[in-house]
Amino acid sequence: MSQPESPGVAAISVSLRLTMLGCSRRARGMARAAVCALPVLFALTAHALAWGSEGHHIAAEIAEQFLEPSTAHQVRELLAVDNETTLAQASTWADEIRPQRPETARWHYVNIPINPPDGTPPAYDARRDCPTGDCVVAKIGAFEAVLRNKAAPPRQRLEALKWLVHLVADINQPLHCADNQDRGGNDVHVDFMGRRTNLHAVWDSGILAAAHISDDRAYALELAHSISQAEAEKWRSGTPADWADDSYGVARNLIYGVWPHDPGALPDSYEQKGIYVVQVQLEKTGVRLAAVLNQTLP
Ligand code: ADE
Ligand code: ZN
Ligand code: ZN
Repeated sequence: MSQPESPGVAAISVSLRLTMLGCSRRARGMARAAVCALPVLFALTAHALAWGSEGHHIAAEIAEQFLEPSTAHQVRELLAVDNETTLAQASTWADEIRPQRPETARWHYVNIPINPPDGTPPAYDARRDCPTGDCVVAKIGAFEAVLRNKAAPPRQRLEALKWLVHLVADINQPLHCADNQDRGGNDVHVDFMGRRTNLHAVWDSGILAAAHISDDRAYALELAHSISQAEAEKWRSGTPADWADDSYGVARNLIYGVWPHDPGALPDSYEQKGIYVVQVQLEKTGVRLAAVLNQTLP
């Protein structure tokens, strides 16, 4: 079983150790200590952002294109409580508060085993994978209920909205719904585009970063407009458990199936093949998030 760590914990500690090494040799006195703390802070924030902020922004922008007018209005009213105007602005709050609320780290993923124990299914199994309800599948349902409740305090409903914007993206990141006894790929050290990283981070942010998207919003609009009616209908049907199974299928059949997944260098072709999968997962996220919000805030 995986440990209850958040994504990138291994990467964080590696960066921390590297940064601290350089510092401890040179650090003398308080001023040096303060200077040395800066790169540590950067290392922490860089690795703590699941899907990477870019993926979250793009998915949220796609979702905005599919909101019903009445839903968009209610979303704007809630976001205004925090002086925000777009879903993209709210999309990474769940990562930002993680250091203050470590109990929420598990809410970002569900570990569905790539090799299930005998007698259990190769799919999401609530009793096996989410026995205490603190996984991404259960939390999406829980926050839908809070957002739907007009009697709940606005700030509480706003938090539920921010969680939903974030978690519907996370559930569509294949490695947030799969585990090969490697913490969703966090423990698989790979070289990707000349950088030492891990398989999980490649799927959170590496593939998108390698695509060098100059304008996230324009890119999101292009993706949104490429979605057919039939795709939107297919993707928005089903439950969060079905979406977890969909992600798990990508992880099992592609990422841990036919694609290279051993520690070491990933081939140059990985980014070109990966970006197509990432694009479709972001499109699914946008459609599914909009469906959740349209149904919850009609
Ligand atoms: N930590 C442990 N398992 C994980 C997963 N599947 N995704 C993200 N973080 C994790
Ligand atoms: Zn997350
Ligand atoms: Zn992640």
